[in-house]
Amino acid sequence: MRILTGFEYEFNHCRSAMRLLCLLLLGAALVASSPHLWTKLILTHHWPCTFCSMEHCHSKIDHWTLHGLWPDNGMNCNSSWHFNSTEIEDLLDEMKENWPDLLSPSSTGFWKYEWHKHGTCAAKAACLDSQHKYFSKALELYHKLDLNSVLTKFNITPSEKYYPFPAIEAVIENFYGAKPKIQCAHPSKDADVQVLGQIEICFDTSFTLTDCEKQTSVEEEEAAFHTGRGRRKLSGFMVCDHNTPVYYPPLP
Ligand SMILES: *[C@@H]1O[C@H](CO)[C@@H](O)[C@H](O)[C@H]1NC(C)=O
Ligand SMILES: *[C@@H]1O[C@H](CO)[C@@H](O)[C@H](O)[C@H]1NC(C)=O
Repeated sequence: MRILTGFEYEFNHCRSAMRLLCLLLLGAALVASSPHLWTKLILTHHWPCTFCSMEHCHSKIDHWTLHGLWPDNGMNCNSSWHFNSTEIEDLLDEMKENWPDLLSPSSTGFWKYEWHKHGTCAAKAACLDSQHKYFSKALELYHKLDLNSVLTKFNITPSEKYYPFPAIEAVIENFYGAKPKIQCAHPSKDADVQVLGQIEICFDTSFTLTDCEKQTSVEEEEAAFHTGRGRRKLSGFMVCDHNTPVYYPPLP
C-alpha cells in the first residue's frame, strides 16, 4: 500500500468534499425542479377501538378506517382553497363508512381538516389537484390495499391473546412487499403490552407501493389535530416496540 503524502491526502480530501457539495447541489436542484413538492404519500389507517380508548369516544366500528392520505412534504399549502363538501357529494356515503370522524361522526370537520393540512399539499401534483381527486384517490388506495382482509387472511384478528410484534409486521410487509410503519399506543411507561393503533402504508408519486420511513415530521404535527380539538391531550401513537407484545383489541 502506498502512503499518501500530506498534499495528496489534502487533495483527495478536498475532492471528496467537492463531490459531496456537488451531490448536495444536484439534490437541491432536483427538489426545486420537481413538479410536486412531495415524493411519497402515506396512507394512514386507524383501529377505531384503540383510537377511542385514547380519546374517550365510542365506536362500534370493527374495521380499520382511513385516517388520512399525507404527502411526506408540506402542510397547509393553500389556506384559500376551502373545503367544500358539495364537490365530493358522491363520495360522502363511502367516507362516512371508511373515513369516519370518530370524535364527531356527523361532522365534516375531520375531512376539512385533512384537506387543508394535507390535501392542499397533495394537490400540487396534477393527479390530485382537486378535492374530488384527492378524496377519491385516498378511498381508491384504501380499497386497493384492503388491509382488513389481508390481516384476517393471515390470522391477525382482534383477540384477547397478545401477538408478537414481528409477526404482525411480517404479514403486512410480506403481503405488500413494502415496509409499513406501525404505531401503537402505550398505556403506561413501563407496561408489558402495547396496543395496536395505526398502520401506515406508503406510495410513491406513481402510486406504487414503497417503503415507509420510521419518522416523518408530518406525523408529529398530525398529533396536534386531536389535541387542538379540545379533548384531553393525546397520549400519542408511537412506532411499536419490536420486543413488546401487542394487544389488538376487539370491540368492547
Ligand atoms: C390556492 O387555491 C385557490 C383556490 O383553488 C387557487 O385559485 C390558487 O391558485 C391556489 N394558490 C396556489 C398558490 O396554488
Ligand atoms: C362548492 O362546490 C359546488 C360544486 O362545485 C359549487 O357549486 C359551490 O359554489 C361551491 N361552494 C362554495 C362556497 O365555493
